[in-house]
Amino acid sequence: MEEFIHQLDLIGEQSGAGGGVGYSSGGPLLKSLSPATGELLGIVRCANSEDYQVVVANAVEAFKYWRSVPAPQRGEIVRQIGHAFRRKKEVLGTLVTAEVGKIRAEGLGEVQEAIDIADFCVGQARMLYGLSMHSERPRHRMLEQWHPLGPIGVITAFNFPIAVWAWNAMVALVAGDTVIWKPSSKAPLCALAVVKIVWQVLKDNDMPEDIVSLLIGGRSDIGDMLINDKRLSLISATGSVNMGRHVGQTVAKRFGRTILELGGNNAVLVTENADLSLAVKAIVFGAVGTAGQRCTTTRRVITHAKVYEKLIKALVAAYEQVSIGNPMEEATLMGPLIDSDAVGAMQVALKRLVREGGQILYGGKILKGGIFDTGTYVSPCICEAPLDSELICEETFAPILYMIPYQDLTEAVQIHNNVPQGLSSAIFTNDLRESEQFLSVKGSDCGIANVNVGTSGAEIGGAFGGEKETGGGRESGSDAWKAYMRRQTCTINWSSDMPLAQGIKFNAIS
Ligand code: UN1
Repeated sequence: MEEFIHQLDLIGEQSGAGGGVGYSSGGPLLKSLSPATGELLGIVRCANSEDYQVVVANAVEAFKYWRSVPAPQRGEIVRQIGHAFRRKKEVLGTLVTAEVGKIRAEGLGEVQEAIDIADFCVGQARMLYGLSMHSERPRHRMLEQWHPLGPIGVITAFNFPIAVWAWNAMVALVAGDTVIWKPSSKAPLCALAVVKIVWQVLKDNDMPEDIVSLLIGGRSDIGDMLINDKRLSLISATGSVNMGRHVGQTVAKRFGRTILELGGNNAVLVTENADLSLAVKAIVFGAVGTAGQRCTTTRRVITHAKVYEKLIKALVAAYEQVSIGNPMEEATLMGPLIDSDAVGAMQVALKRLVREGGQILYGGKILKGGIFDTGTYVSPCICEAPLDSELICEETFAPILYMIPYQDLTEAVQIHNNVPQGLSSAIFTNDLRESEQFLSVKGSDCGIANVNVGTSGAEIGGAFGGEKETGGGRESGSDAWKAYMRRQTCTINWSSDMPLAQGIKFNAIS
């Protein structure tokens, strides 16, 4: 067995339910297969409904303890978790590459993102600030304070099998919540490796390990139990729009809260005043990085007609240089898609493209021979699609890039915003007026809008999320922590009178 599997304590059948120790009692077996090589990496016993009840009951109990630990001390635990990730960065990064096929640099970057958010949250633990207000009544004081919410559920996708959980969990932990994680069934080992590291830190500090727990299982059983469970006041979910619609509606019915990070359909605008070589670098990383499987992946390039042909040429030349292969090899820039279903979905999309009047300019092929016989490797695709094509309004989770020409910037912004999703966006220009128009209220309608920076690879310090069908949630930095806490407005009367607000007189007792 591979050394990293050993080092991360993932040898033998793993328990897919637990908080501290595994106690899955009889859910189905789940195999973790590497999309890069087809190799069996590990076996996990999924959680069943009895396990679910144990995990949630324990998370509720652990919350009673955790909420009373002072926030800066919670920050100290998160500091230790970040430190433990740092020590294991290399092996965790290797596991990410093996289990979901990200190239080495991205696997390590994924772990770095978890370390960064842990570092950020150590400081955040001392900055859970509430405002104070001046009361309209004499000798009254008003303030707001933030309390922990309770146990929360975090549902994550395969494409960021560690970082997205960390964005939620590190913030939630300093906020005083306990965290129940339902990872993607396509990346169970990444989740197991991470929680085992966290459990060890909690154990070393004599704290209940159920502060962080794990439920590996299907969407329709474990997932549905989580989203219907009134004990979980917040569900943070990353994944497709369909999944998010189901989660959002179900949780809203019970007046729970959601943070939804759903699909993106991210575009880069390239104006006639752009530095084209910068734009090409950003577009190639944005479109080909993670084999086109980020929610922030660049899917559309909207280019001024004057530079349209030149940009296509430069992009094709850059795509020809992208080395596709085993993601473990340092020279590889693009690894496999997550599985053959994803390859199938890409092929279906490309057939539709042609039916809808589009054309393929480069790539889009299933690769064959040697390691490619896993059936998970494709060449990234550059294509043109008519503006009225339905396909370009959808997110196909694969490296397909649509090239769209424009004549003036107002029209370009309209094309840009004319999709149901609203996650990430970028403009490449050296003209201040153009970039300010893009950032103005009449500009990009996305949660993320960049200038001379591509659509993917956001830093943890900002609030991450998007508008429209992307779901509206915000995670990670800035003041995203507020979603993980409950706000309480307090008015304190230190006078010997009982004045009412709005000057109301109500003298029942003379
Ligand atoms: C996702 O694809 O779900 O901005 C998250 C980025 C990463 C996060 C992507 N930091 O590309």
